[in-house]
Amino acid sequence: MEFRRTTIQVENIIKQYKQYDTTVTAVNRASFSAFDGEFVAIIGASGSGKSTLLHICAGLDRPNSGTVRIRGTDITSLSPDELAEYRGNNMGIVFQNHNLIPQFTALENILVPTIMINKDKSAYEENFKKIVASLGIVDRLHHLPSELSGGQQQRVAIARALINMPLVLFADEPTGNLDKENADEVLELLIKTQKLLGQTLIMVTHDMSIAARADRVLKMDDGVLTAVNKERLLKQI
Ligand SMILES: Nc1ncnc2c1ncn2[C@@H]1O[C@H](COP(=O)(O)OP(=O)(O)OP(=O)(O)O)[C@@H](O)[C@H]1O
Ligand SMILES: [Mg+2]
Repeated sequence: MEFRRTTIQVENIIKQYKQYDTTVTAVNRASFSAFDGEFVAIIGASGSGKSTLLHICAGLDRPNSGTVRIRGTDITSLSPDELAEYRGNNMGIVFQNHNLIPQFTALENILVPTIMINKDKSAYEENFKKIVASLGIVDRLHHLPSELSGGQQQRVAIARALINMPLVLFADEPTGNLDKENADEVLELLIKTQKLLGQTLIMVTHDMSIAARADRVLKMDDGVLTAVNKERLLKQI
């Protein structure tokens, strides 16, 4: 049997929001794990808790209870400073909106995470070349975000998320703001680059044809996470 190492193990995550006298349970005892190099898609209706769960997994938000272990380290128990450093070294995040710094060129934006963790040029140079070639942005590096198309901006955001060679890449509707043609192209490049670098990819998506490309599909239903039979999903598309 092939030996597969667990990258991320999420157990019993609960996240509640209090609104006046009511409590919304956005995530209700969610558990899942993903192996090295695996692409896991999370689908589900709007408001079902997908982003909340992803943000908790990526250490952007804290759960009421439950654990998120990345290679055995429970990130929910780290202090804010420890978490920031851990995130910089081990996690990459891509959002629906690219969130690039408008005054910085594509190149400067991509290198921001290396500055945050004081990474030496020699430590990322090789990886940088691979990433920008794979994402097809070599000739756009000296442009400002405003001088790039939506698809190119998103490719720069993906490069920024991958520059520190994270163990796991989180993506929340990464192509949600692009038209179909651009979305398909960016997604192809994202998956190609993820396979090239061997990252674990956890992606939230509304798009069933994207989910069908994943190794495994999970579904959020009112905060409850369950596994989806991919064969059945394929038949529904
Ligand atoms: N900061 C917050 N304060 C209060 N309630 C929140 C907060 N963030 C999310 N919620 C609630 O938690 C639930 C899950 O929201 P979430 O954004 O995770 O859904 P989603 O599945 O990502 O939806 P979409 O597909 O529209 O992005 C919703 O009922 C939402 O209103
Ligand atoms: Mg969302």
